[in-house]
Amino acid sequence: MDSIVREALFNQVRSWMLDAGTLIKDRIDDPLIVGTKSHANDLVTEVDQEVEKFFSEKIKQYYEDHLLLSEEGYGDDLQDTNGTIWIIDPIDGTMNFVNQRRNFAISVGIYHEGIGEIGFIYDVMANNLYSAMRDGGAFKNDRKLPMLNPEANLEESIICLNHYWLCENNIVNEKVMQSLVKRARGTRTYGSAALEFAHVAEGIVGAYLTLRLEPWDIAAGRIIVREVGGLTTDIDGNEVGMLDKSSIITGNSNVHSKILNDYLKNAKKESV
Ligand code: IPD
Ligand code: CA
Ligand code: CA
Repeated sequence: MDSIVREALFNQVRSWMLDAGTLIKDRIDDPLIVGTKSHANDLVTEVDQEVEKFFSEKIKQYYEDHLLLSEEGYGDDLQDTNGTIWIIDPIDGTMNFVNQRRNFAISVGIYHEGIGEIGFIYDVMANNLYSAMRDGGAFKNDRKLPMLNPEANLEESIICLNHYWLCENNIVNEKVMQSLVKRARGTRTYGSAALEFAHVAEGIVGAYLTLRLEPWDIAAGRIIVREVGGLTTDIDGNEVGMLDKSSIITGNSNVHSKILNDYLKNAKKESV
């Protein structure tokens, strides 16, 4: 994508992110209609749908040749990575939104011919807007984020992971994962993949590990993490495609490779 086109698009998305944030804030004290999707704890509200509809209408009106891949049904049926594609999670962390009314984010990634060009993650209630343009660095609001320390070590890092890793399961050996948890300085579970990516980019979390994410959970975050020198792969160390549902490990380069080599390589169960 041409750099002038990219910058104009970036400014437009930035303003729509803030508008979408206002839309959510205006509804924050309202009672919600909460529905479920694939299982009882996979939640959706009318606010998730309204935010997605807001972006879908804007894209159709102003960028009619762009495509949308999104969670709540307003997107296009994509077959490949051709063209300019917006990948949107209107509310990432819907369970937090429903139960806490905070700790959720709007996530928008824009890809051109499969390459990540623009990423935005908006922590609406904290009013923190994380953003990045390809080769333009990453920002938290107006502050440019420094490059991550490539020598940061696991012993002094907080890592984000879900407790599922530590319970008996048929994907990873929980004993190996328990030894990882003991070696790290501490662990956190924020309940929003987008925010966990943003915290990795900010350098306040050394790595985030998760077993299965959808493209809209990953799209913006990995662009922002890449701009500060962080790495994002699946738990086998493979690159993740733009349309893939995948496990994820994202982190600063040293902690990422330590977790991958010292733990995950030995932790996969035979059946996988
Ligand atoms: C979920 C959150 C959560 C992650 C789940 C996602 P949603 O997204 O990112 O942290 O563990 O895998 O599905 O459903 O709130 O958009
Ligand atoms: Ca999500
Ligand atoms: Ca969502």
